[in-house]
Amino acid sequence: MKKLVALLLCLALALTCVSALAEGQKVGVSMPTKDLQRWNQDGENMQKLLEEAGYTVDLQFASNDVQQQLNQVTNMINNGCEVIVIAAIEGSSLGSALDLAKEKGIPVIAYDRLLMESDAVSYYATFDNYKVGTVQGTYVKEALDLDNAEGPFYLEVTAGDPGDNNANFFYSGAMDVLKPYIEAGKLVVKSGQVEFSDVATPTWKTEVAQTRADSILASFYADGSSIDAWLCSNDSTALGVTNALESSYDGEWPIITGQDCDISNVKNMIAGKQSMSVFKDTRTLAAQVVKMVGQILSGEEVDVNDTETYNNNVITVPSFLCEPVFADVNNYAELLLDSGYYTADQLQ
Ligand code: BGC
Repeated sequence: MKKLVALLLCLALALTCVSALAEGQKVGVSMPTKDLQRWNQDGENMQKLLEEAGYTVDLQFASNDVQQQLNQVTNMINNGCEVIVIAAIEGSSLGSALDLAKEKGIPVIAYDRLLMESDAVSYYATFDNYKVGTVQGTYVKEALDLDNAEGPFYLEVTAGDPGDNNANFFYSGAMDVLKPYIEAGKLVVKSGQVEFSDVATPTWKTEVAQTRADSILASFYADGSSIDAWLCSNDSTALGVTNALESSYDGEWPIITGQDCDISNVKNMIAGKQSMSVFKDTRTLAAQVVKMVGQILSGEEVDVNDTETYNNNVITVPSFLCEPVFADVNNYAELLLDSGYYTADQLQ
């Protein structure tokens, strides 16, 4: 009996120690900016789930300022974070902080965007970025019935930030579908701007995408001729293109693609201004990363499902890719409202 009581006491003590350990463990979460809706959601989800799991969270947003993010991550390392999760503003610019993390033995998880040029990246969790692009390209291909219709159709392209490794994957996924039709002359890009470097949008900013779209409209479509599709890599750039079209375009309203299901863009889908988006449920990504954090800290094997795709120019980072989902006006209610992602009021 005495032995049993002693055993139970030991067990209780051990459990208290384990939970005290989880309570004391601090996780740093570094997000790029509060300016775009998605990073606010990602940050909030990460904080909520990590706190629910008993961790202390140091969540920082860096105002899209690389130096600020570098300082924030360095502080996280110096202030006792045991794992650091980073969605980088500029994938290649955190080298010195990553070196410090490595030196101190602190694992780093790249969140959504790959951290480049460093061997100090332990894991990467993201959505299947190439697939996001394929979903967008395939939508344009099918909506215009490119295999059967005679054409030619007029296309313009707006891609993402060259400092974000994802931007290239989105662009390549979409262009791998559409390029053959461009080469065959069935899709015509009147501006002649097709290469990634010509269509990129530094910092993904709506205003930057809008300024470029304004200039394309003024130079190539001022005669009232129509654009059939405007491939946009995400919602913030789709919004810029939509704004430009609304203010200075007289042709038929084009197909516009996007990604993220940001509130303004879902409203535009409902209003018939944006044709589709790609839903990347940030709750799923956050949950996966919280799971990774737990597995790392408890020394368990970490769940990954891709060990080949994401090379950061130094190492191939073991990754977990979540599934992106096609969204349009027909399925947004089920995807976004029924799942509790948004309330109906938010989309009014
Ligand atoms: C993300 C996209 C987002 C873009 C701009 C990318 O890294 O994967 O979901 O639209 O950044 O914030």
